[in-house]
Amino acid sequence: MPVFDIVSPSFHADPVRTIEQIRATGSPLVQMRLPILGNMRLCVTHEACGAMLKDKETFVRDPANAGSRTQERILRILPRSIGLLALNMLGKDDPEHRHLRGLVDQAFQRRGIQAMRPMITAVADRLLDRVAHHSEVDLMETFCRDLPLSVICEMLGLPDTDHERFKNWLGGLKDTANIGAVIRAIPGVLRVVRYLRKVSRHGGGAKPDGLIIGLQDAEIEGRRLSEDEIVSMIFLLFGAGQETTTHLISGGLLEILRHDDQRRQLQADPGLMPLCVEECLRHVSPVQLTKPRWATRNVSFAGQEFGRGEMVAGFLTAANRDPVEFDNPHQFDMTRKPNPHLSFGTGVHFCLGYQLARAEAAIAFERVLARFPKLRLAVAGESIVWRKRVGIRALSSLPVRLH
Ligand code: HEM
Repeated sequence: MPVFDIVSPSFHADPVRTIEQIRATGSPLVQMRLPILGNMRLCVTHEACGAMLKDKETFVRDPANAGSRTQERILRILPRSIGLLALNMLGKDDPEHRHLRGLVDQAFQRRGIQAMRPMITAVADRLLDRVAHHSEVDLMETFCRDLPLSVICEMLGLPDTDHERFKNWLGGLKDTANIGAVIRAIPGVLRVVRYLRKVSRHGGGAKPDGLIIGLQDAEIEGRRLSEDEIVSMIFLLFGAGQETTTHLISGGLLEILRHDDQRRQLQADPGLMPLCVEECLRHVSPVQLTKPRWATRNVSFAGQEFGRGEMVAGFLTAANRDPVEFDNPHQFDMTRKPNPHLSFGTGVHFCLGYQLARAEAAIAFERVLARFPKLRLAVAGESIVWRKRVGIRALSSLPVRLH
């Protein structure tokens, strides 16, 4: 069985060779051994990824629905505060998933993404003001991390003074390829859970127009979210919405800076921005792997047999570079249209925050290029360092010269 490395910094720096080796197997499914997750098959074509993610009867998120009690047993021995995080919708199947998603959709819709644009722009400008007088900065630390974090804090209605504390608490979770690092991050996670429990109570300090109050008020057919469900939902929004957007913005900026001709085209025609964001989503593929699914029955899928309880996940990086779907799939082309990438997944778990992520990236790119029209990388392209990560394509830093 060939061994494919999809975790190392060198893979993240340039996935082309590995993706081509995977493609050369000719199979829509390949076996991989991944840190923490272990052995499983990954869908590597656009068609197989889409079909697997859309078939919610055959491939489920909750292993208990595929006959496995392992997760349930692990949750029973974990501290309650950690266990409750698994209550979130991304780990559930219908009808519970539909119910939780319906409630959060209701709260999300109360404040449309359009109405959030001035706030996102103001946050972006505030962060850029802080670095504007420097000649060289690391945009990762000063901008790309801070922007999504501050936007989620604002959206939830958390007090501004808590943003820095959050960054420190969640900072330990950068390296999930390493079990030691995951364990070391637990105290930070526990602190976040304690804090979120406090603010998500009535009178806990959340701002009245934020999502936390919206979640407290949301109701479908007489059912509301419990305190545990609200905490778990907020944690999911941080987990799903912060790093992902950070790496779309940083990875996207890197591609824009690497392609000077296209960057000039974008600066001359701001109407290109929506297409540019889609191409950054496809080409960067900040979320490289979907969460695993479990087969609910013995089934033949994409030419292979699955036993009940067997795991499979979608390899979105490979699906987004499938030549059947995309011409010149390894080429960054911000005029690409159509661009049916799977970066937000598909099916019932399709990303809840897709409009927010698109808006944040568009505003981030627009503000950075408007404020620093002569922006360029401060180091040679090959010196850019990527993190060792499973399932997330993460730059270590983005050193740039602003002026
Ligand atoms: C570039 C940014 C983002 C990317 C690439 C991304 C990607 C994804 C993907 C691939 C999934 C599906 C995972 C699966 O099926 O296993 C997903 C689900 C989800 N995302 Fe995002 N996401 C981004 C930003 C956000 C933001 C900003 C939020 C919210 C603030 C968010 C909230 C969620 C939630 C709650 C789910 C679970 C939905 C469900 O289970 O129904 N995401 N995201």
